[in-house]
Amino acid sequence: MKRLTILAGLIICTTVSAAPADLVRGKQVAETVCASCHAGDGNSSIPTYPKLSSQHASYIIKQTQDIKTSKRTSGSSAMMAPMVQNLSDEDIANAAAYFAKQAPKAGEADPKLTPAAGAKIYRGGIADKKVPACMSCHSPNGAGTPAGGTAVDAYPRIGGQHADYVVTQLKAYASGARKSPNNMMEDIAKRMNEEDMKSVANFIQGLK
Ligand code: HEC
Ligand code: HEC
Repeated sequence: MKRLTILAGLIICTTVSAAPADLVRGKQVAETVCASCHAGDGNSSIPTYPKLSSQHASYIIKQTQDIKTSKRTSGSSAMMAPMVQNLSDEDIANAAAYFAKQAPKAGEADPKLTPAAGAKIYRGGIADKKVPACMSCHSPNGAGTPAGGTAVDAYPRIGGQHADYVVTQLKAYASGARKSPNNMMEDIAKRMNEEDMKSVANFIQGLK
């Protein structure tokens, strides 16, 4: 009986800490703190700033916390770190929930940059380099998967993301500057050359 009471108490505590996000407040945070770089609806048009629209909330929270605490310092992360220093965990979660609900906006693949070769890597990997198909984790249309299991918060949405940003991330994983759970992306990116990265990134930019 005593054990049951303790269990019930634990369940109540978890429910309280996972209070539903406040989307009105999330929009306010997005528009005042994030919009200058990511755009108010998360559909940034500048390649340095990743699109956040329709990204999984748990992934946005994890990356924002990692950038805030300088666990993620690769690429242009240092630009963002000072902007989120004073944000509370609640406001990060609120902004994440808001961006997750914004409609995605894909770009276009550049027809001169062999999108067909990129599509092949995305859907089938590169067999002789043991590069797996990107879609096996990021899903066929690039929407990713909201829950990843124990090590992974979410397989992020990459469909429609800026090609330049995608290439920068692949290079950061390849060099070890950016870390992923169980070195998943490091192991993949290390086996790709620059041409592979550019062609798959070009295909991803137009993916929706
Ligand atoms: C001064 C510009 C700036 C502001 C303001 C800013 N960011 Fe960023 N953010 C960046 C840059 C640049 C990157 C890409 C870092 C890199 O090169 O890896 C980034 C990356 C991210 C990522 C990782 C995206 C991914 O796909 O992995 C998330 C999530 C994010 N920002 C959320 C936010 C949120 C939420 C806010 C507001 C609370 C915010 N950012 C405010 C510049 C900014
Ligand atoms: C085994 C699963 C898996 C496969 C296969 C996979 N990825 Fe990933 N990918 C992930 C995970 C998990 C993350 C998030 C890692 C983190 O937390 O930094 C990620 C992150 C990324 C990111 C960074 C996203 C962002 O918004 O910053 C890019 C870009 C990416 N992957 C591209 C690819 C490409 C291209 C391929 C195929 C060549 C691929 N991935 C294959 C699991 C996978």
